[in-house]
Amino acid sequence: MDFLTLAKERYSCRKFKDQPVEQEKIDKIIEAAISAPSATNAQPVHFWLINSADGLKKINEVTPYGFGASNIIVVGGKPAEAWIRKSDGKNFSEVDAAIAASHIILAVQALGLRTTWVGVIDIPKIKELFPEMAEYEIVGLFPIGYADDSAAGQPSKRHFMRKTRDEIVTIL
Ligand SMILES: Cc1cc2nc3c(=O)[nH]c(=O)nc-3n(C[C@H](O)[C@H](O)[C@H](O)COP(=O)(O)O)c2cc1C
Repeated sequence: MDFLTLAKERYSCRKFKDQPVEQEKIDKIIEAAISAPSATNAQPVHFWLINSADGLKKINEVTPYGFGASNIIVVGGKPAEAWIRKSDGKNFSEVDAAIAASHIILAVQALGLRTTWVGVIDIPKIKELFPEMAEYEIVGLFPIGYADDSAAGQPSKRHFMRKTRDEIVTIL
């Protein structure tokens, strides 16, 4: 499949089938995340793969949007390890983490799986429950699974609401 088709077919999936995800596919998703570019190649990112009963229970305490997935990847960027742009002092930790997260959602799609970028997270709580995340900016968590055939597992109406090229592109 060409990239544009892949990018257009990706959508936020909010219900999964009760079908296990192959470890080989999870490994490929993580490999795609590790391949992401980062400013100065600092790679100030970390991925937590949550698949234990205890870990998933904790995730359900910090977001209502785990969607019952049995594999959830949390993505964080560590400001202390990221490039800082001199001209305005901007720390690129979140930018780098968001790029890696974009690799994750597209790799998921390419493998026939589905996910949603979940930003509704109780950040103080997730850091309390997972102390290893304390020094990271958490950009999102990603429940991964096979799409349910019901409406919640398919693209929402919002998915199709795109700004037009004229609204979003300026040629200077
Ligand atoms: C940074 C970010 C945070 C998001 N947080 C949530 C969320 O917490 N819960 C949710 O159901 N969807 C969340 N989404 C999904 C968006 O609602 C979705 O991408 C948007 O409506 C477009 O739909 P589509 O992804 O199906 O194309 C988030 C997306 C992004 C990029």
